[in-house]
Amino acid sequence: MIEFNRRLEDIPVYPAASTYAFDGELVKLASNETPYAPHPQVLEAVESQLRTLNRYPDPEKSLLRKRISERTGVPVDRIAVGNGSVELLLAAAEAMLEPGAEIVYAWPSFSIYPQMTAKSGATAVTVPLTEAGEHDLEAMAREVTAATRLVLVCNPNNPSATALTPAAIEAWLAELPRHVAVVLDEAYVEFSALQDPDDSLDLLGRHPNLVLLRTFSKVYGLCGLRAGYALCPEPFRLAVDRVRQPFAVNALAQAAAAEALNHQDEVERRVEQNVIERVHVESELADRGLETTDSQANFSWVGLGDRDEDEIVDGLARQGVIVRAGSALGEPGRLRVTYGTRRENDRFLSALDTLL
Ligand SMILES: Cc1ncc(COP(=O)(O)O)c(C=O)c1O
Repeated sequence: MIEFNRRLEDIPVYPAASTYAFDGELVKLASNETPYAPHPQVLEAVESQLRTLNRYPDPEKSLLRKRISERTGVPVDRIAVGNGSVELLLAAAEAMLEPGAEIVYAWPSFSIYPQMTAKSGATAVTVPLTEAGEHDLEAMAREVTAATRLVLVCNPNNPSATALTPAAIEAWLAELPRHVAVVLDEAYVEFSALQDPDDSLDLLGRHPNLVLLRTFSKVYGLCGLRAGYALCPEPFRLAVDRVRQPFAVNALAQAAAAEALNHQDEVERRVEQNVIERVHVESELADRGLETTDSQANFSWVGLGDRDEDEIVDGLARQGVIVRAGSALGEPGRLRVTYGTRRENDRFLSALDTLL
């Protein structure tokens, strides 16, 4: 019998969305993806790489880091690119955590965060969200000790969909000791109506312990290729690069992400469409007596009251509509539903009607 290390059993299995055998077109509203196909010029950029796949990808990710730098004004030395932003989170854990070290984050939040401690043997200190599903920054600050290496703030938060303003984050950040790295996970920042994505860039200049984590998986719609980045102090970039393989980000992902940055008009269109679908889904849910938190993302966090969560989530799946059960994400009695196209959203709503 082969043997594994003892830490393996402590690593939670990522709660991936279930795939269901369904005789018909599935409506996938479980993974906070965008329903829109990549921009045609992004597809062309991918195709242009196909004939050189016999070569390793650029370990420096030069073109992509240059484009991110042009877009954000952050020097290339302070830009780390990962195979999805998740890779950068796991690399940060490897580089910064160890037994005796602590990491602080809110809960429920992104399902990868618990893996960061399980792999490193560090201690996770979790702070419950407020009633409204928001980060309780003051309570989080109270948990910071001399042993704290990392504090994670998911803004907007997955799965509760709420967000904080950059001003609120900055006031809090200013009070934290400088030995603590604060990772602001901004996977959904483009969708937040509380800020322009560029607003949080200003914080970087004033807070040398701040890391902004962003992704091409959400509004840019490239999650199938895997690319994310951190805007960070240079030592953070060097550390996450040191613990990863040099060719972590494949050539197609690098080319696609670099091209996607040239299409900010497309980003704006998607954000506007997201607002339209959010208002539609939220008002339809309210008409059915279902409460949602104040969503600043591309999904709703829906309270089911005393209805049976499994019955609803399984009942939707039987009709080909895949959403996430709150219990898999840290809060039973809820579901998380991503906004799709109008047709998909209406299929979700009419499937829900058969169950309420
Ligand atoms: C809060 C948050 N951060 C990061 C990610 C992951 O992104 P990536 O696809 O860049 O690894 C997700 C994806 O669901 C997320 O919800």
